[in-house]
Amino acid sequence: MLVAAVDQGTSGTTVCLLDDEADVVGRGHRPIGVSFPRPGWVEQDPQELLGSVVAAVADALADAGRRPSDLAAIGITNQRETTVLWERSTGRPLYPAIVWQDRRTAGACERLAAAGHGELVGERTGLVLDPYFSGTKAAWVLDHVPGARREAAAGRVAFGTVDSWLVWRLTGGRAHITDVTNASRTMLFDLARGDWSPELLELLDVPPEPLPRIVPSSKVYAHTDPEVFLGVEVPIAAVVGDQQAALFAQGCFDPGQAKNTYGTGSFVLVNTGPVLPPPQSSLLRTVAFGLDGEPPAYALEGAILSTGSAVQWLRDSLGVISDSAQTAPLAASLESNDGVYFVPALAGLGAPHWDPRARGMIIGLTRATGRAHLARAVLEAIAYRTRDVVEEMAAGAGVTVTELRADGGAASNPWLMQFQADILGIEVDVPENTETTALGSGYLAGLATGLYSGRDELDARRRTAVRYQPSMSADRREELYGQWLRAVERSRGWDR
Ligand code: G3P
Repeated sequence: MLVAAVDQGTSGTTVCLLDDEADVVGRGHRPIGVSFPRPGWVEQDPQELLGSVVAAVADALADAGRRPSDLAAIGITNQRETTVLWERSTGRPLYPAIVWQDRRTAGACERLAAAGHGELVGERTGLVLDPYFSGTKAAWVLDHVPGARREAAAGRVAFGTVDSWLVWRLTGGRAHITDVTNASRTMLFDLARGDWSPELLELLDVPPEPLPRIVPSSKVYAHTDPEVFLGVEVPIAAVVGDQQAALFAQGCFDPGQAKNTYGTGSFVLVNTGPVLPPPQSSLLRTVAFGLDGEPPAYALEGAILSTGSAVQWLRDSLGVISDSAQTAPLAASLESNDGVYFVPALAGLGAPHWDPRARGMIIGLTRATGRAHLARAVLEAIAYRTRDVVEEMAAGAGVTVTELRADGGAASNPWLMQFQADILGIEVDVPENTETTALGSGYLAGLATGLYSGRDELDARRRTAVRYQPSMSADRREELYGQWLRAVERSRGWDR
């Protein structure tokens, strides 16, 4: 029997089919459209998200030469925070999905901060007052779609992150759930109590009626509706935020173990164990995973909002490259960055700077600057942003990251991974299978259905493909990083 490990990410849906040894035997991928209706706004079509999941599972089955009836379970992992509201009676979305990178609620967050609510938000939710999270996005939809607040109060509207939306639709409206990891990204969840926070609901002006039920990350919740899902009834047995799924699949089960997933953004998570860490000023406290019948494990997270999307921007908007992989030889064609820096604040700046009004910036241009400099500056920036977060983990939280496990698309960029090891001064370990987000959801679904015996079995599946050793001198490393910090300062507060 097979587990369909579904990763509904920002730029596409990836499905890995896992057999009963947790080996990948088939793959499917469908890209997803994204629109930018105004500067700072980022939207997707919820129906397209759903369609891409069903199509990518069908592709993966075809790839493996198997049938839908061979599926024993589905695990779902998803882009987090992206917000959908829909009509319960029809499943019709009230508005496009507002994507996590969307900055439209920056003003609302600033007003809450000015009124002195930042500390309460940090204490209760583990998050910072930033438009990244779902709560202010949900309130925005309720305020801007005519009649939405009235319908919500009457119980006729459902709210959810992408996991809730997918499970609702895939089960024909029978399950309205979200798991603890996704709930912990809404700014409506009380981390210590493990439930929705009445205080935060009131503060953000989100009514309780549309909220999903909170469930563990690994459990059989419901079955698919054959009318919606390839003619079969399959148990949905895991729901987990994509970064938490990657942490799980990277085998970061013990406190102190850290991973970075290089996707649309980059997200460094370090496992802090079963004790909720104390409030932080600029790192996020979040649920790492919540297994059925076990207390949750927590993590500290440094969320970097725009990294892979900056490479996409080089490719799709500027035409500097035609394929992301070209960035590695372009960067390697130069001996140094020649003083050219790029600050990827394309969706403001996330951790540890948290400035939704920062904007992207290229600095240090001369008449000698060419496309290789742009490609190199974008890759270097991805590594510098990771160091920003790792430094904050040490300075602000007293957590020293001694090795970084890397995954996601850009983990296969050898120039970036070497530069990452150099700029951090620690080893970077890349596993054979870098599709860890999908794997994590498949592992959790396999655990819930008894296909896999436990974490030890899964940990043994992780094999290192490459270990990058730092080779840059400390002087050089600090010189480059110091100049980067100067560039970041200049990008801040640009959007007034
Ligand atoms: O918090 C946003 C994150 O979950 C999105 O992940 O894979 O689309 O970069 P990704």
